[in-house]
Amino acid sequence: HGTASDAALPAADSLGLARGLPLSSLSRLQNHGGAGHLVGQLAAAPVQLPLLPGKPATTFWAYNGQIPGPAIVAWEGDEVRLQFTNQLSQPSTIHWHGMPVPAEQDGNPHDPVLPGQQRTYHFELAAGSAASYWYHPHPHGHTAQQAYMGLAGVFVVKSRHDPLAHLPEQWLVLSDLKLDAQGQIAANSAADQHDGREGQFVLVNGGWQPVIALAEGERQRWRIWNASSARILKLALPAHEVDLVGTDGGLIAVPRRIDTLLLSPGERAEIVITGRFAAGKASALQALPYQRGKAMGKEQGDILTLATIKRSGSKATAELPATLRPIAALGAPAVKRVVNFSENMADPSAMFLINGKKFDMNRVDFSGKVGQVEEWDIVSQAHMDHPFHIHGTQFQVLARTDDGVWQDEAFLAWRDVVNIPAGETVRLRFVQQRPGLRMFHCHILEHEDAGMMATLDVR
Ligand code: C2O
Ligand code: CU
Repeated sequence: HGTASDAALPAADSLGLARGLPLSSLSRLQNHGGAGHLVGQLAAAPVQLPLLPGKPATTFWAYNGQIPGPAIVAWEGDEVRLQFTNQLSQPSTIHWHGMPVPAEQDGNPHDPVLPGQQRTYHFELAAGSAASYWYHPHPHGHTAQQAYMGLAGVFVVKSRHDPLAHLPEQWLVLSDLKLDAQGQIAANSAADQHDGREGQFVLVNGGWQPVIALAEGERQRWRIWNASSARILKLALPAHEVDLVGTDGGLIAVPRRIDTLLLSPGERAEIVITGRFAAGKASALQALPYQRGKAMGKEQGDILTLATIKRSGSKATAELPATLRPIAALGAPAVKRVVNFSENMADPSAMFLINGKKFDMNRVDFSGKVGQVEEWDIVSQAHMDHPFHIHGTQFQVLARTDDGVWQDEAFLAWRDVVNIPAGETVRLRFVQQRPGLRMFHCHILEHEDAGMMATLDVR
């Protein structure tokens, strides 16, 4: 922040971004398939949006011309067929982040869709898979750029037995926008490649500071996605009561009252917010400063207001259920592995490493078995935080170190992203239910592109 090119930019509220848009304004993917079938088309292509007054329009890359891409909503049990057309000038894929789809439908870097080509992704949504997922490109070496140019969208799978179905929902897709002085999306600087890119603006659903109406005493269910390439968001709603009710893989067993919510890149959460317009406390969704590494210098920026909340009278809504859904702990592991995250700042061509190695498309790092419980210790020897993500399944965090001291995880949850703070270790368990190559990587997308990724071959 505060560089010469930043200084040339107008404040966010004078950009041509939709301001205060209703969160329900995310456009939906039209379902052409009839009951039990979700059929649709997604095309990735450049699109021009007027952002800066008196300057040429800003070029984004978008799915179906929309930022974020159309929201896909389907039900457990649905069969999904989505035809993807790549109208970019570089290879792309669509990765169904967090979804338990077959490896060959996962849009991983092994299956690029070349410029001008099409492919259809086809999978079924398993029973019990209801959750807030998302989709984004995953071609080798181009993922960060394609994501920060605008290619991302949400994919919500619903259950017919949803204990929170009675609550009104708000969906918030948080992303970063970094512009150059001409109002075009800035290329990554060397510092962005290294630290992960953070923009001058944090967008909500592609717009700027939405206004959410909430009554005193009213309960709303919010689904929140961190779709930024590198920004770790420490979210707070100071005036209101907030209960965590879901993580990446859907509802947790029991609501948990929280003060702040740490959401790393790629991660999602569901919260229930109860309107309490406490005097003297900010009635807004805020991002608090977060220090994402011991050697990263001062905490990033100030408190950001992401959404404002307007009081709309008083309303008592239904109680929050005491239990949401059962989650069984995974059993004793058949395999234990150590996954080491490190940085080699002396080598710009291999800076971000997993078990001392840079990603290689032709290398299998681990071999696993379908149905087998794996226990992984993700050990950070890095000086900055790196969020761990694995494809194909959800995991349970068992324990983590805090300043090197092990702490059992306080509650069971299904996740597919977990932040690994600099110098700490996170222990997790998972089962892969289908064979194939599964990527695991840092979800700071600049690091993933730089090779902080590896492959688990499940047989
Ligand atoms: Cu959201 Cu391998 O990525
Ligand atoms: Cu990283």
